[in-house]
Amino acid sequence: MSTNIINTSVGKKVLMAVSGLFLMIFLLQHLTINMLSVFSAEMFNKASHFMGTNFVVQFLLQPVLIFGVVFHLAMGIYLEIKNKSARPINYAVNNPSNNSSWISRNMIVTGLMIMLFLALHFYDFWVPEIKYKYIDFKPENPFRYFEELEHKFDDLWRVVLYCLSFIFLSLHLLHGFQSSFQSTGVNYNKYTLTIKNLSIAYAILVPLGFVFIALFHFFN
Ligand code: HEM
Repeated sequence: MSTNIINTSVGKKVLMAVSGLFLMIFLLQHLTINMLSVFSAEMFNKASHFMGTNFVVQFLLQPVLIFGVVFHLAMGIYLEIKNKSARPINYAVNNPSNNSSWISRNMIVTGLMIMLFLALHFYDFWVPEIKYKYIDFKPENPFRYFEELEHKFDDLWRVVLYCLSFIFLSLHLLHGFQSSFQSTGVNYNKYTLTIKNLSIAYAILVPLGFVFIALFHFFN
């Protein structure tokens, strides 16, 4: 009997964790490049020009990333619906707050808030970028990136929405980081404390870094 990994619920949890780990690696890379914009417009323009014109990044990594985002969202919604229908009495006997934290029970809520943020974020940056390069076929200007980024943070409402979203991101990562190690079974017991500490550090510092970048460009 052949059992496809996608057809088992453990398999689905593992795939959810692997896509989550992949997105967390992307976030670190994304934060590093964006943080350059705080220190040097020239370095930020160089890095963005490379990412925006490199063939491998554009036609291999970018599609894989978009697939990762869509997969993580679709699988998250699917698992949530399955979990809900497997517990029709919905904690009539159990008090959920005794068994799990608010954050772990609300991953779908924080996840959907992040996806709403991504819709705005893609409208702000990704769509104009694709239009510039692949629809309008404008000539490449390696110095445009810093200015484009800075102007996006002129509006207070956008900065507020971004910062609120980074709070949801932090909540999501606080549970998601350690949960992904548990689900993939990477010798979790041996490293429990290390993973917990790393998880807290990552979930606070990475969103805080994004908040800093948004505020920096708003006030400058
Ligand atoms: C202050 C915070 C942020 C800034 C300034 C920022 C900036 C940018 C910029 C300039 C791009 C366009 C890249 C391009 O295609 O040329 C971009 C794309 C993107 N951003 Fe952000 N970002 C921020 C936060 C985030 C966060 C928190 C996430 C995830 C939760 C995220 C996810 C993405 C994704 C998935 C893309 C599309 C990547 C691609 O180009 O394929 N960003 N961002």
